[in-house]
Amino acid sequence: MSEHASAYDDPGTPQEISRRTFMANATVVLGGLVGVTLAISVIGSLVPTSEVLSGKKMWSALDSAGFSKLQGSDGNVPLKIFFTHKSQDGYLESQSQEYVWGLKLTPDQEQQMRAARPDLFAQKGAGVEFNVFTMGFVIFSPICPHLGCHYNWDQASTKFICPCHGSVYDKFGKHLAGPAPRGLDPLPLREQSGKAEITWIQYETAVPDRVIIAYS
Ligand code: FES
Repeated sequence: MSEHASAYDDPGTPQEISRRTFMANATVVLGGLVGVTLAISVIGSLVPTSEVLSGKKMWSALDSAGFSKLQGSDGNVPLKIFFTHKSQDGYLESQSQEYVWGLKLTPDQEQQMRAARPDLFAQKGAGVEFNVFTMGFVIFSPICPHLGCHYNWDQASTKFICPCHGSVYDKFGKHLAGPAPRGLDPLPLREQSGKAEITWIQYETAVPDRVIIAYS
């Protein structure tokens, strides 16, 4: 065997062996840490954040003529009010025509609605987390909480009726009949620079609890 080859067979001094062992162990530990960090980053990127789930809260102005009509209404007939629904999904912004149902309420009617709709005013987070009454109005999402059809106001029966499976609600949105698991869902309303604005909320359908899927 050559002198050069035998140099490779020499295990070295105890200090050299100890240094090599330390370096090998350190490399394994560092490699493991890098691997764990990468794994956490990758897994984290795959889990949807609450921001992604909830979307971006945006305010959309209600049609001013429609809202003026609501302001002049007598509080017994809900009115359909159109608006341009702006939404943002990631970097994509889109617009579509939508409508909500508005009802003007006197202070007495507000009390009646509180009694009729305890699901909206329950304490400790069970109710909705915004004011259901704003400026003397309540705004309902036009989406039936059963399976998502658009319901309508039936003046003959003075009820909201959904054409899809026959769910019926009173003017306060209280569920009266049909397969819907809860009453109508409210939307936030605000006044901004003289305009009435709402935030669109997509609620989960077919469940008794009011669960927010997305804002826009
Ligand atoms: S979607 Fe309205 S009753 Fe089924």
